[in-house]
Amino acid sequence: MTDQVLQQAIAQIEAARADSNQIPVVKGFFDQATYTITYVVHDPATREAAVIDSVLDYRPNSGRTSFASADAVVAYVNSENLKVTWLLETHAHADHLSAAPYLQEKLGGKLAIGQQITHVQEVFGKLFNAGTEFERDGSQFDHLFEDGHTFKLGNIEAISLHVPGHTPADMAYIIGDAVFLGDTMFMPDYGTARADFPGGDARQLYKSIRRLLELPRETRLFMCHDYKAPGRDTYAWESTVGAQHDSNVHVHDGVGEDEFVEMRTKRDATLDLPELIMPSVQVNIRGGHMPEPEDNGISYIKIPVNAV
Ligand SMILES: [Fe+2]
Repeated sequence: MTDQVLQQAIAQIEAARADSNQIPVVKGFFDQATYTITYVVHDPATREAAVIDSVLDYRPNSGRTSFASADAVVAYVNSENLKVTWLLETHAHADHLSAAPYLQEKLGGKLAIGQQITHVQEVFGKLFNAGTEFERDGSQFDHLFEDGHTFKLGNIEAISLHVPGHTPADMAYIIGDAVFLGDTMFMPDYGTARADFPGGDARQLYKSIRRLLELPRETRLFMCHDYKAPGRDTYAWESTVGAQHDSNVHVHDGVGEDEFVEMRTKRDATLDLPELIMPSVQVNIRGGHMPEPEDNGISYIKIPVNAV
C-alpha cells in the first residue's frame, strides 16, 4: 500500500537517480565503542551538509565526556569546506550520547528530531522524575520533523519519513537517493532493531520497515549501527532496498507481520539493556544537553533503582 508521502519519496529517489546533481556525497564515521555510524552528507554543488546521529564519547565509570568522535566530524567538515545546515537525529538514542550541542557550537546547523520526541520526553521525564524545568514540548530542538516534511540540503531535495517501532519518534531522512533509516533495519545479515524500549512496538516496526521496503530496489540505505554478523568479520553500513528484500534475516520477502512480531518479541526478551541507556536517554531527550547543574554547579545523571 503506497501512501502519498511514500509516493513523494519514491518520486524524489527516482528523480535523483536520473540527475547526478541530486546525488549527495555520504561519509560514515564508525564509533567502535557504541557501534554507531555518524554520517556527514553533503551536496557537492553548494557544499551544504547535514550531520546525522553524532556521538559524544562518554565514560560511564567516571562520568567524563570527550570529543574524539565529534572532532573527527569537525575535521572532515572543515577539510572538505562544508557548511553544516542540519544536525539530524533519527531518534533519541539509548546507546550513545549525542554530540549535537558541541557540533552546533563548532559548525552551526539546525538541530532536528522527530515530532514524537514529545512522547518520549513524557515517558522518560516521568521515569527520571525530571522537574518542571524539563520541558516536554521538544523545545530543546530547533526543528521537529513530521511524516512527509520536505526540505533541502543545498540543491538536493529531501523528505522525512516517520518510522516508529524501535521508539515512537524514529524518523528516516531521505536525502536525494540516500536513506538514513535510523534503528529500523540493520545490515541484511544482522536483521532489525529491537522494539522493547518504552514506547517501542514490534508490530509498528514491521509496518515501518515494509514501508521503507516500498522504495525503489536500488535505493541506497545507510544503517545507524552495525555489530558485524556471524560469518562477517568487518563492519559494514551501506545496503540497498533490494538486498533487504532478498536477504534480511528478519524481514526478507515472505516474512509476515505475525511471524516477525513473534521473532522480535522472543529475541528482545533475551537482550540486555545497552550499557549507556541511562545517561544516553537523559541527555538525548534534552537535545544532547546535560541535565541542569545542581547548586554546586555539577550535572548529575540519575539511575532509577528497580524501575526498569
Ligand atoms: Fe536506537
